[in-house]
Amino acid sequence: MNAYLNGQFLSLADAKISVLDRGFVFGDGVYELAPVYSKKPFRLDEHLSRLQGSLDGIRLANPHTIDEWRERILQLIALQDFADQSLYIQVTRGAAPRDHAFPKNVAPTVFMFSQPLVTSTREQKAAGVCAVTAVDNRWLRCNIKAISLLANILLRQQAIDVECAETVMLRDGFLTEGAASNIFVVKDGVLMTPPPSSLMLTGVTYDVVLELAAAHGIPHEIRPISEAEVRAADELWMTSSTKEIMAIVKLDGTPVGTGVPGPLAQRMDGLYQTFKQQVMRT
Ligand SMILES: Cc1ncc(COP(=O)(O)O)c(C=O)c1O
Repeated sequence: MNAYLNGQFLSLADAKISVLDRGFVFGDGVYELAPVYSKKPFRLDEHLSRLQGSLDGIRLANPHTIDEWRERILQLIALQDFADQSLYIQVTRGAAPRDHAFPKNVAPTVFMFSQPLVTSTREQKAAGVCAVTAVDNRWLRCNIKAISLLANILLRQQAIDVECAETVMLRDGFLTEGAASNIFVVKDGVLMTPPPSSLMLTGVTYDVVLELAAAHGIPHEIRPISEAEVRAADELWMTSSTKEIMAIVKLDGTPVGTGVPGPLAQRMDGLYQTFKQQVMRT
């Protein structure tokens, strides 16, 4: 029973929704993905709070209280026979006759599933990844974690097509984020990242990285970053719940800094791993 659908725990193969579900027809819904380590969800409150923000952003009432979410999530985690999990949560505006207008008196669809967590291996982190840049042509409400990911998918595919891992997006000459990650720049020992805004999704990992930088006295600046600064970076990282802190060593075919994961990326990854271990023990 690796899935949960509208109050029931069941196998993913048995989880069925109406073809008129607005998530299917319109992409009218929001989601979250939380990593689970040793059966303990990481930063669950922060993921649930971001879910609330996304639901508010699409004017959909939260179907559950925090306690109800927590209870269901912990039950789903406990049902799995693997310890490290990737927990996916999705809420859509429910099934209704096709019409753009919000349906009245329709229950939202609440869907969750858990699968084994696949994070970056030590070898992958030691090698780093390549990325490409593209104009950020998404809508102006990227702070909503919407299931309608078509723009992100097309942007990410530009990287996949050239055997790279991520597309670094630029809007009006400034860095926004990756197609499915946040981006950090290091120059002369200073860690930099754009400030949260409606042009990017504030990652839970992004917040942890900034907290760790503050706690360990790593100089950091949260401010708009120009394309020129991205291209002149000593280090470039992508961060997300599954990739964690991953060095980008080549951008548009040009080496970033020395062309290998830099010292700050390695230090931050170490701090992140220690932080995870501490959280798992509490
Ligand atoms: C567009 C986008 N930005 C940023 C992130 C990073 O968020 P988090 O660190 O919470 O995984 C993601 C994660 O999937 C994403 O899709």
